[in-house]
Amino acid sequence: MVRWVDIALEEGVRFFVTSLGNPRWVVDRVRPLGGVVYHDVTELRWARKGADAGVDGLIAVNRRAGGHAGPRDVRALLDELAPVGLPVVCAGGIGDAQGFAEALAMGYAGAQLGTRFIATTECRASDAYKQAIVRSGEGDVVLTERLTGIPISVLNTPYVRRIGLRSSALARWLLRNKRTRYGMRSLYALRAGLMLKRASLDESRSDYWQAGKSVAAIDAVEPAGEIVRRFARVACAADAQ
Ligand SMILES: Cc1cc2nc3c(=O)[nH]c(=O)nc-3n(C[C@H](O)[C@H](O)[C@H](O)COP(=O)(O)O)c2cc1C
Repeated sequence: MVRWVDIALEEGVRFFVTSLGNPRWVVDRVRPLGGVVYHDVTELRWARKGADAGVDGLIAVNRRAGGHAGPRDVRALLDELAPVGLPVVCAGGIGDAQGFAEALAMGYAGAQLGTRFIATTECRASDAYKQAIVRSGEGDVVLTERLTGIPISVLNTPYVRRIGLRSSALARWLLRNKRTRYGMRSLYALRAGLMLKRASLDESRSDYWQAGKSVAAIDAVEPAGEIVRRFARVACAADAQ
């Protein structure tokens, strides 16, 4: 990771997003070069840890997010993070320009979108994955612990129905235990890597597709630039009113 951050800096990248662990080492590398670090958080204690490490802003990952979702509702999370005094970006549940404008009106400084940008012409995800996002509604999105040990938001495919949503009592215990936690996470990461490799070799064999509740507002595969321009237009118009 240190090497990748150094290469990114060498190539001119000046905006970094950190998530798990303590982001101080990233801040220490990026700040002297005039870069900015925003930290993904799901609740106040992680925000305080990021603020203590010197991050420039927070990305509030709420319970509607794709990928590893948090436990909090979009507004409750903003209120909870306000005392930290850093700009807060909304992550989770935004699929259309209206949702983006609403997040800004609520007090968020910006938005981080994941699911929306999978259904773009530029994204190298399989067509089947993109079409599944376009077709799906909120009810097709579930949180499962069975893939990584912590809740991850995915489309409810036959594979996900087969493995289930809750980790076994033994897996949960091993993930909590200080001695076995690291080994368990490595095992999950290895399995996820193997699955991704298999899916990249034969895209029709994808076992699971990560997506958040924002699927409900996504109804077409579009170029990423068009999405960003439309979002900016609608947000500016809403601001002018
Ligand atoms: C396929 C996929 C992979 C993701 N991978 C990561 C990741 O590696 N690290 C991370 O911090 N967030 C990751 N996320 C979360 C996004 O950065 C973002 O917070 C989230 O997608 C926002 O919710 P949305 O999908 O409703 O827009 C991922 C999301 C998706 C959909």
